[in-house]
Amino acid sequence: MRSTPRRRSSLSDRLASRGQGKGLRRPSRSAGRVIVREATARDLPVLVVHRRRMWRAIGRRNRAELDAHDRRYRRWFATERAADRLRAFVAVDAGDGRVLGSGALWLTPSQPRPGPRSRDAAPYLLSMFTEPSARGRGVASHLVRAMVAWSRVHGFLRITLHASKMGRSVYERLGFVSTNEMRLELRAPRRRQGLRTTARRRH
Ligand SMILES: CC(C)(COP(=O)(O)OP(=O)(O)OC[C@H]1O[C@@H](n2cnc3c(N)ncnc32)[C@H](O)[C@@H]1OP(=O)(O)O)[C@@H](O)C(=O)NCCC(=O)NCCS
Repeated sequence: MRSTPRRRSSLSDRLASRGQGKGLRRPSRSAGRVIVREATARDLPVLVVHRRRMWRAIGRRNRAELDAHDRRYRRWFATERAADRLRAFVAVDAGDGRVLGSGALWLTPSQPRPGPRSRDAAPYLLSMFTEPSARGRGVASHLVRAMVAWSRVHGFLRITLHASKMGRSVYERLGFVSTNEMRLELRAPRRRQGLRTTARRRH
């Protein structure tokens, strides 16, 4: 069975037309018989399942929350795709076309920065998942390399992501470094009240 439906606008087509991305369609020597291609609408069900299983693997186990998340992700995915802000990629077994892993790039708006490296959007890498039976064969590494190549070809200068414990070494090996990003988790307010931004006066 042919595993790579060819679309004019596929990643490898565009990379090939620029003389880059050699080996994306060809089975990679390092990853075994694995091909990375851009996902199509027909891959959406597997992308939703992979996303759910990614959350499960990193500890989110509440079934109702995951069910609600699946529905939201499907809608969000369709909206972002339609707006050309999301590119998903799948790694497939070249022999039987089975999807072994997936990941996506979300082109998020970015604020102006001084200097030539400023762009109004930046790729954020998300939803990385490899089927457990295919792990440790370089599937995720292959996907990340393809997404880095895609980002370069499209003129982006930086990719960001949040790494799970399992994913960290994959990204580090490919040159990703930790940054000085900080975060504050906000608890939901206990009851509805107006925003109070000044200190309460004591009497
Ligand atoms: C994280 C995850 C995506 C990695 O997938 P994977 O396909 O097994 O990743 P790789 O095979 O590219 O790399 C994993 C290991 O295989 C090794 N490996 C074996 N053969 C390899 C090859 N040919 N090329 C590259 N790496 C290879 C790597 O050295 C790496 O080892 P290390 O992590 O101990 O350094 C996968 O474990 C997963 O889905 N985890 C659950 C969800 C998750 O955490 N997602 C990440 C969210 S940020």
